Amino acid sequence: MLLTEKSTAEKLILTSDSQSSPNQRLLPLTATINEQNHLEIGGCDVTELVTQFGSPLYILDEKTLRTCATQYRDAFKEFYPGESQVIYASKAWSCMTIVSILASEGIGFDVVSGGELYTTTKALEISGYTENQISDKIYLHGNNKSVSELELAIDSQCKIIVDNWLELETLAQLTAQKQQCVNILIRLTPGIECHTHEYIRTGSIDSKFGFSVHQLEAVFTFVKQQSYINCIGLHAHIGSQIFELQPHHDLAGVLADWFKKALDYGLPVKELNVGGGLGIRYTESDDPPSITAWVKTVATAVKKACEERNLALPKLIAEPGRSMVATACVTAYTVGGRKVIPDIRTYVSVDGGMSDNPRPITYQSLYQVVIGNKMREGNTEKVTIAGKHCESGDILIKDIEIPDTQPGDVLVVLATGAYNYSMASNYNRLARPAAVLVNQGEANLIIRRETYDDLVKQDLIPSRLS
Ligand code: LLP
Repeated sequence: MLLTEKSTAEKLILTSDSQSSPNQRLLPLTATINEQNHLEIGGCDVTELVTQFGSPLYILDEKTLRTCATQYRDAFKEFYPGESQVIYASKAWSCMTIVSILASEGIGFDVVSGGELYTTTKALEISGYTENQISDKIYLHGNNKSVSELELAIDSQCKIIVDNWLELETLAQLTAQKQQCVNILIRLTPGIECHTHEYIRTGSIDSKFGFSVHQLEAVFTFVKQQSYINCIGLHAHIGSQIFELQPHHDLAGVLADWFKKALDYGLPVKELNVGGGLGIRYTESDDPPSITAWVKTVATAVKKACEERNLALPKLIAEPGRSMVATACVTAYTVGGRKVIPDIRTYVSVDGGMSDNPRPITYQSLYQVVIGNKMREGNTEKVTIAGKHCESGDILIKDIEIPDTQPGDVLVVLATGAYNYSMASNYNRLARPAAVLVNQGEANLIIRRETYDDLVKQDLIPSRLS
């Protein structure tokens, strides 16, 4: 490579610079290259972070996370004249620091289990929010909520997004027993198709989530008869990692029709939740719309759909997960051995894999990498980045051009904030990595690395065997 020519990593940083919407970038907003040719994020040298906190390591950039939150929030203020609330889909990555940061930016939370509800509540308590402020911020989702999860939600007074008949009937019983009211939204399957992986498509007719539209009138009738259930809104979510805007536009019309019907039934509906789904850039060829463009489409479509039906503007709720947190985080690994199969492939192994990032093996997801300690070096070879699990399919990235690497180099996979830590496992009894938050040169541990003791903590040996 000529000295004046830019390396792939430099080009990625330069092209990212022109993107103001974090979800359209490959690297976090604060990514730069320092004099040692190392990647810096949040003012911290990624190679030094690995030395200090170990490897693999999730590195979360506070500025990028906060920017996503403010872009969502500000765009709703700009494009929607009614009340609005952005709630973060915690399933993307539920941990106490993320809750605390997003809450401070005025974001609420969609949780899908007792565990996510507990994590969120705990973080908000520690951050000084009152009980009322906490319950107001949280919505509980899930297609098979347990009785204890429903009880937890009723007791903590958060809102519940009801998915099916069993849940509705159980809620009616529980609230009557407790003589306690609950605010619910009804989730419907809107029958809208979008182009994304079939596992993460949720809005089409053939989906396990929500009521089919032909059930809704019966649901409205049932809910109307319950003294302790207030149906305050409707919800739909069409899928995830979506680059098209049209399905989100179309959803507004479907929801507004049912909102009008709910009002005709005399239900006190005032909230419309349009779900999440905006995609992000994982590789150079991905081209998602910006956060602002997505919000503008959704807000304008809901406003127009309501005006056309003579409806007062509902409180508009959106629940982005991936586009809130994905780009803010990278995963740093240490390069290990290599296997060269002449004329076929070169495998370069790293010290993590499908246990810290199950997305490639689950959805064939693609990722971009940089070598954190060789940022200005040009690509010299095509390699396949292999994880360390005893499974042939544990490949993080197939056939990617990178600079020459040696054992000990720091390989950084980009855009790993969403559905990586949250779907991480202990497969092969690997300890889950640590996560650090970086900001203005400071790095704080936000999730401890698991230890071998953590791995056996829940195991028991019956006494007759020992
Ligand atoms: N709301 C509901 C009801 C959802 O089911 C989801 C995602 C979201 C909001 C957030 O969607 P997002 O803005 O993140 O696209 N594990 C998969 C993604 C599963 C998405 C599940 N639902 C992946 O790694 O791609």
